[in-house]
Amino acid sequence: MDVLLLGASGRIGRRVAAELLDRGHSVTGVSRSGTVEGIDDEAFVAVAGDATDPDQIARLAAGHDAVASALGPGEDDSPEVLTEMIEAVIEGLRRAEVDRLVWTGGAGGLRVGPDTRLVETEEFPDEWEPLARAAIDAYGILEGADDLRWTYVAPAALIEPGERTGEYRTAERELVADEDGDSYISMEDFAVALVDELESGDGVGSYVGTGY
Ligand SMILES: NC(=O)c1ccc[n+]([C@@H]2O[C@H](COP(=O)([O-])OP(=O)(O)OC[C@H]3O[C@@H](n4cnc5c(N)ncnc54)[C@H](OP(=O)(O)O)[C@@H]3O)[C@@H](O)[C@H]2O)c1
Repeated sequence: MDVLLLGASGRIGRRVAAELLDRGHSVTGVSRSGTVEGIDDEAFVAVAGDATDPDQIARLAAGHDAVASALGPGEDDSPEVLTEMIEAVIEGLRRAEVDRLVWTGGAGGLRVGPDTRLVETEEFPDEWEPLARAAIDAYGILEGADDLRWTYVAPAALIEPGERTGEYRTAERELVADEDGDSYISMEDFAVALVDELESGDGVGSYVGTGY
């Protein structure tokens, strides 16, 4: 596949790029500066683009089979920029006539009980709440894009650089936790999950939680 990867310079994005390239896909990696450090592969091209601008997304996405996102707010941005980004990306894909989008979302909107989402629990750190709420709002916008084959893939509650084991579990709209109640995934295995979803399309139209 020819994949446009938004957020390719980010912590998760660089691992998604590596996973795509390992599996033989071609990747156009977008960051605002047009540079992506640490990836040296002839099937990879780094380009500059602003993910809040639908015209730029349309131009960049044209001719690709799919778009993957590991976008997050820049250092000087408020969390709400995520909703601006998802609106621009949806609009850009429509204009470019690309209908497949796999989006790295947040775990905050995943259910931990019948009527409770992770963000609503007492243990959820206050400092993460604005980003979690913005990611939930972004999901609400994506959910309405029924002309796209989208999947919103969320990490576990905790995601950090780690090992690529190739093993993980998924659950639709539910937080994935182990038997001790810990919800964790390495960034490398999250990239595996995201690329598996991109290739299979099993989760089209759904909010997929990942973890061990
Ligand atoms: N447990 C959880 O739910 C959880 C935990 C961690 C992360 N996440 C989510 O996963 C996503 C990625 O996280 P991360 O830690 O990998 O983020 P990160 O390292 O901050 O990377 C963000 C990426 O977005 C790009 N970006 C920012 N603004 C842009 C713009 N206007 N136009 C184009 N590119 C732009 C950055 O590129 P440049 O700055 O180089 O332009 C960078 O590549 C975030 O949405 C975050 O909320 C969820």
